[in-house]
Amino acid sequence: MSLASVSRMEAKLLLPTYERQPILFVRGRGVYLWDSRGQRYLDFLSGIGVNALGHNHPAIQAAIKRQAGRLIHVSNLFFHEYQAELARLLTEISGLDRAFFCNSGTEAWEGALKLARAFAQMKNRNGSKSKTRILAMDNSFHGRTFGALATTGQPKYRAPFVPLVPGVSFVKFNDLDDLRRKFDASVCAVCIETIQGEGGIRPVNREFLKLAARLTKQSGALLVLDEIQCGLGRTGRHFAYQHYGVRPDVVAVAKPLACGLPLGAILTTERVAECMHSGMHGTTFGGGPLACVVAIEFLREEKKLLKHVRALGKYFHAALAALDKKHKSIQDVRGAGLMQAVEVDSPELAKAVTKQLLQEGIIINRTHETVLRFLPPYVIQKKHVDQLVKALDVALRKNEEPTRKYGKEEKKTAPPRRKEVHAHA
Ligand SMILES: Cc1ncc(COP(=O)(O)O)c(C=O)c1O
Repeated sequence: MSLASVSRMEAKLLLPTYERQPILFVRGRGVYLWDSRGQRYLDFLSGIGVNALGHNHPAIQAAIKRQAGRLIHVSNLFFHEYQAELARLLTEISGLDRAFFCNSGTEAWEGALKLARAFAQMKNRNGSKSKTRILAMDNSFHGRTFGALATTGQPKYRAPFVPLVPGVSFVKFNDLDDLRRKFDASVCAVCIETIQGEGGIRPVNREFLKLAARLTKQSGALLVLDEIQCGLGRTGRHFAYQHYGVRPDVVAVAKPLACGLPLGAILTTERVAECMHSGMHGTTFGGGPLACVVAIEFLREEKKLLKHVRALGKYFHAALAALDKKHKSIQDVRGAGLMQAVEVDSPELAKAVTKQLLQEGIIINRTHETVLRFLPPYVIQKKHVDQLVKALDVALRKNEEPTRKYGKEEKKTAPPRRKEVHAHA
């Protein structure tokens, strides 16, 4: 089927929720994708952080073939061989004790919020009342279901669907005083993306995360981290919180876990897990044998790639920082490992650059209006970084004149730049 006929049919038959680029992808290998016309693209987005091993990884392909021929689904009414093994691997690398498997990021986040409420009801009451208040962060993104939306600190996602789940208050991200002001005995959880992804690749400050850990520990509330985008090797460690020396009570992961098959997980401590009993939470599809087999394979590969992600992340960040010196339009360069961003001075420039790179066969993404986001597969090499940075340099130069807001002098007085906390940790 051609791009024209697919897009005509979709326009007629699908809910109009996506503004797709006019490209029909038909296959992928490694860091490259090919469209229906045979054009090759360098993938610096990995399906928004999902294809961490690149496309068509031989070990993943083999695992899918093997398991698809044996057993795909049994439901959670029965045992299969792989959930326990996957839970063992995830608890080992996270320092947590127990896992629950689901199908997506938003579903993992919903489960994490439910754990916080259930734990407070059972084990951490506020006098005769149970603690129900959740503190979430401004500028955060946790998904599209009601609980996730209720904790997402961006009005544009929430507004069309109010009223949402009650009991959520928002804290200014990385504002210690605001967190101290809003935290009290009614709080059951503090919810943080260790690195805000959709919000523009903004890492949590060390002091802020430590304060959240201290306050929650003192009052018996839970520190709940969203590592759906930044976890599982993306920053060069298994989890982004491992850069900070903090152990959360609950962490949600998803995106790269099963390399494109739908799989998410909630990881938590023994103490928190005690608040759940049979029938309190569940899912039909979550943690099926096919997805679990692939995730086990993914974790084997991820472990081998951590050092490479750290080295390439450092190289990539340094190259972007060098671009920053050359371009007046660049307002900030930030990130960790292979989760990097360049913030430019206007949405128009970010849009024009993203479009031009795509025309040249390089896939990146614009998020939060002015932020160019890079989430390449962990298997990229220096030559791919060089290609991207060179093309970015040209695209910025070509597009920044007509869209630029700040001149050379003005850049100095532009809004304060938020540098990354641990750019190459
Ligand atoms: C940090 C974060 N949390 C949650 C989600 C929601 O995940 P999903 O789209 O799999 O529901 C996303 C998706 O982009 C995310 O980046």
